[in-house]
Amino acid sequence: MSSGNLTADRRFAYALLLRRDGDAVAAAEVLSQTLELVPNWPEGRFALAETLAEAERKYDAIPAYEAYLKLDPADSMGAAVKLALLTKTTPDTLPEAYLRRLFDEYAPRFEKALIEKLKYRAPQIIRAAVDKARPEGTFARAFDLGCGTGLAGAVLRDRAHWLGGVDLSAAMIKGAEAKKIYDQLTVGDMMAALDDLDANCDLIVAADVLTYVGDLAGGFAAVRQHLAPGGLFAFTVQRHDGDGFALGAEHRFRHSLAYVEGLAARTGFDVLLLEDAVSRQEKGVDVPGLVGVLRGARA
Ligand SMILES: C[S@@+](CC[C@H](N)C(=O)[O-])C[C@H]1O[C@@H](n2cnc3c(N)ncnc32)[C@H](O)[C@@H]1O
Repeated sequence: MSSGNLTADRRFAYALLLRRDGDAVAAAEVLSQTLELVPNWPEGRFALAETLAEAERKYDAIPAYEAYLKLDPADSMGAAVKLALLTKTTPDTLPEAYLRRLFDEYAPRFEKALIEKLKYRAPQIIRAAVDKARPEGTFARAFDLGCGTGLAGAVLRDRAHWLGGVDLSAAMIKGAEAKKIYDQLTVGDMMAALDDLDANCDLIVAADVLTYVGDLAGGFAAVRQHLAPGGLFAFTVQRHDGDGFALGAEHRFRHSLAYVEGLAARTGFDVLLLEDAVSRQEKGVDVPGLVGVLRGARA
């Protein structure tokens, strides 16, 4: 990460050392001096905002994140999430550029980290739920939203005649391609990919993906529209015990059971199954979640 100015880069490196050693106050001071040399350097602005937040200078951190956002409106570093957490507001979704960068960086160690450290099992939970809702038969067309490296595809492959997948992150899609189990893979946003489908699907899955979307209304409506008659929508979410949905400190959304139920009814789904399921851990502790299987209601 270079600012293009050697002196600024040296100051920046010194600030990072101070921050690493726990002196966020001094680090913020050095970063402010750095930015006098390179005022329009987005990464430097973001680092200053992060350091001010760490130093518990919330009211300085907020304008610092806003200054970064002016330089990088696509928000690849995720300032909007930080602002939402600092101001205790809940955004409707997370910026695409931020998610893409996050998962592009995460991709090489994704499966190892998820399966070994976080005991990830959303794909297996979804498979069991689908088997329960429809024990037999092959789905003619199945589509995997936010397919990542293909963990859910691998678990569902034998129940699908045709299997497609989409993910925002090109690096994650590379992992999915290597598995050679998908008939079609697309890099892009899941809503756009649904609109681009040649034909409707009779199974659409979202394994640990809706946690990156707060307001699920648009997503549920899009899935409903692209399901063939009688088709199933199977997904996991993290459970929120309050009303509606909330954003957690780990930058993942949680959704309440009532919210998911209400939305399913409003967007024309019958709930076949909606129950507690733990699909991952966080710091060794089970994260409460839900698994759902919805069926397009008859008109
Ligand atoms: C935690 S991973 C889960 C991957 C996969 N479903 C699995 O079970 O291993 C979440 C994935 O969702 C993708 N994602 C998040 N929001 C998305 C969106 N709006 N459109 C497409 N992919 C998205 C991310 O890039 C990431 O690969």
